[in-house]
Amino acid sequence: MSSINYSEKIPNNVNLGEDRTLQRALEGWQPNFINWWDDVGPEGSTNHEVYLRTAVSVDPNGWAQFGHVKMRDYRWGIFLNPGDTNREIHFGDHKGEKAWQDVPGEHRANLRRIIVTQGDTEPASVEQQRHLGLTAPSMYDLRNLFQINVEEGRHLWAMVYLLHKHFGRDGREEAEALLQRQSGDENNPRILGAFNEKTPDWLAFFMFTYFTDRDGKFQLSALAESAFDPLARTTKFMLTEEAHHMFVGESGISRVLSRTAQVMNDLKTDDPAQVRAAGAIDLPTIQRYLNFHYSVTIDLFGADQSSNAATFYSSGLKGRYEEGKRTDDHVLKGQTYKVLEVKDGQLLEKEVPMLNALNEVLRDDFIKDSMAGVGRWNKVLEKAGVPTRLVVPHKAFNRQIGALAGIKMSPDGRVVSEAEWTARKAEWLPTPEDFAFVASLMGRVVEPGKFAGWIAPPVMGINRQPVDFEYVRFN
Ligand SMILES: [Fe+2]
Ligand SMILES: [Fe+2]
Repeated sequence: MSSINYSEKIPNNVNLGEDRTLQRALEGWQPNFINWWDDVGPEGSTNHEVYLRTAVSVDPNGWAQFGHVKMRDYRWGIFLNPGDTNREIHFGDHKGEKAWQDVPGEHRANLRRIIVTQGDTEPASVEQQRHLGLTAPSMYDLRNLFQINVEEGRHLWAMVYLLHKHFGRDGREEAEALLQRQSGDENNPRILGAFNEKTPDWLAFFMFTYFTDRDGKFQLSALAESAFDPLARTTKFMLTEEAHHMFVGESGISRVLSRTAQVMNDLKTDDPAQVRAAGAIDLPTIQRYLNFHYSVTIDLFGADQSSNAATFYSSGLKGRYEEGKRTDDHVLKGQTYKVLEVKDGQLLEKEVPMLNALNEVLRDDFIKDSMAGVGRWNKVLEKAGVPTRLVVPHKAFNRQIGALAGIKMSPDGRVVSEAEWTARKAEWLPTPEDFAFVASLMGRVVEPGKFAGWIAPPVMGINRQPVDFEYVRFN
């Protein structure tokens, strides 16, 4: 079952051909997906042939095949990790029972909501990134952007398959609506805030793929534990693709830092104005971008206390990150967790039932993972002999969701007055001038092996190809 059937219109490893009704329904959705791609997918890319990897098998070894393809001919399809017929639910009230192959009636509405919310993020990021190809800093980076875009398209397919197969008519309607909402659209926006923000430039793109695709990793990991087996298996396979997206973000920022450090050393200065005049991005601007993307992304985990989170866990719909590696009872009744609250203008910790705090648990796991990569970025600065370090802002900084929304916090975790916030906001979050400056650097560089002046070349090419390989053929 793990090999993928490419002889069908929709590549799949779920024996789609045996279910004619489902196959026809998905083949009906397919042209709408292609129209969506043509309308709001990567701008001006229709004739490009891009060196992309395509899944040929879901086996851990060698699932990917590389070759030049036009993106609209990419073999989007339906791939589930191999199933285990004896799999048991390993957390919540149904712990020890057999995993579900179909949706239990009482969990239908919640499961549909979970799948739609996840599915909605996938096309959203393609829409957010659609202009970036016009200002790529290199052909190598352009290829990576396109790889991410087609894989986010495939993630949408993954969720649409579940909706069509398991949710009947409402599922088909939800699948249509996924192509109708649009990132940033005032009347019909994407479901979650961060997916309606702009990704105006490549610094924002690298921060997005580092932080926001990592939110994807944590959400998918929690869903990969689900008692609903088809959801668990499909999200497991999506995780293998997500790893590349985060790599693009982490290595992208490392390369920006490496270039900035080089300019600082050459000029023997840490003056942002001089760094900018030399065509590199100054560290305070990079820090402000980091603050923005980090705070917007941690909002995606939802309210710190949530009865929905408790229901999703107890009913087996959504586990914790690495649920299987934890040594507690996997039921969590009577356990507590610390969350932050604001009282009389001060931040306090308070203990709440852990089941209600599972959004916060996942957010804290995300924070730990994010900080590790920021540490690796700082190594780039350290190695270059630059004393400045990037830091992750306080968890309560710039929050719009949950108990921390509405309070004014400095990045270093002080509650500040409205007046101080207004006076210092420009130190903490990207300003219109920052955006204008970064935009001014975004010229298109696409000759093989050439790189824009604000970013260092990568250490290695893709799939062991040289850095100056022709990753994109413009036709
Ligand atoms: Fe995705
Ligand atoms: Fe992603």
